[in-house]
Amino acid sequence: MKNIGILTSGGDSPGMNAAIRAAVRTALYNKMNIFGIRRGYQGMIEGDIFQMKTTDVSNIIQRGGTILKTARSKDFMTDKGMETAYNQLLSHNIEGLVLIGGDGTFRGAVNFFSRYSIPAVGIPGTIDKDLMGTDFTIGFDTAVNTAMEAIDKIRDTAEAHDRVFVIEVMGRDAGYIALNSGLACGAEDILIPEVTTDINALLHKIECDETRKKNVHIIVVAEGDDYGGANKVHEAIISRFPKLDVRTCILGHIQRGGSPSYADRVLAGRMGFSAVNALVSGNTQVMIGVINGNIVHTPFAQVVKGETPIPTDMIEMIKVLSI
Ligand code: F6P
Repeated sequence: MKNIGILTSGGDSPGMNAAIRAAVRTALYNKMNIFGIRRGYQGMIEGDIFQMKTTDVSNIIQRGGTILKTARSKDFMTDKGMETAYNQLLSHNIEGLVLIGGDGTFRGAVNFFSRYSIPAVGIPGTIDKDLMGTDFTIGFDTAVNTAMEAIDKIRDTAEAHDRVFVIEVMGRDAGYIALNSGLACGAEDILIPEVTTDINALLHKIECDETRKKNVHIIVVAEGDDYGGANKVHEAIISRFPKLDVRTCILGHIQRGGSPSYADRVLAGRMGFSAVNALVSGNTQVMIGVINGNIVHTPFAQVVKGETPIPTDMIEMIKVLSI
């Protein structure tokens, strides 16, 4: 294999640049040509493709976002879009792909490769950590640290005013950011999509805390929680306790940006390096993961079907450690 392409797709995540850098330099080290495909699958369809040199990835290891840009391509979900993308790859003589993204990226990959045969290796890049086949995804560690710092700051002001705060963090289908940032900040309650929210239990806890003069209550809510997010939880609290001073803060996209943590940079580097090595050795249609510290390869089809169960001890901890 002489010519390979690389793209980032779906929501960006801190560390994607470190993964691009590692993949580009590993390819060049192996005397391959590597082509950057801008804006993910959309750029593949539009032929937004350029040959990369080692200097294209200088000074990016510490930068958030993605120098290749990203998109959630609707066109790639159509037969026509996939056919155009395939023809673009052929016209650029691209014989293999490195795909960096989250579950949408791998769903797109499964669809595409069921029609067109091109060797490809995936790298999990998403702050949500909602992919099976890896203990960590690129960007998750940084996003949790960003959320943790924000929640710590909110606790200071909550404490000063004796307020209840409902803080919404990202996580459309997965509660890992909420669970980890919430536990790291000693949240009084954490609501995640994986556990059905019992709003009455939450209200009862607030009532008990108020009775014993524990006036600060930090509730971390994953955006995908079944109760409907932070605003709904806020409404439920003030309708039961109209005198309580309640505020809501939605952290939003601040969690997706920023310089990657050391853990995300090293993880991204290992994954970028391993992805190109996997392409070279013909171990393809797999996503690179790290499990128990070791690099593993999981077929795309398993990645998109799998569930990543939340450890039960962490759920139990929320209740026990917030008394
Ligand atoms: O990339 C994952 C994620 O950040 C989710 O946590 C969130 O629901 C979604 O992306 C937001 O996507 P967008 O930036 O397209 O609104």
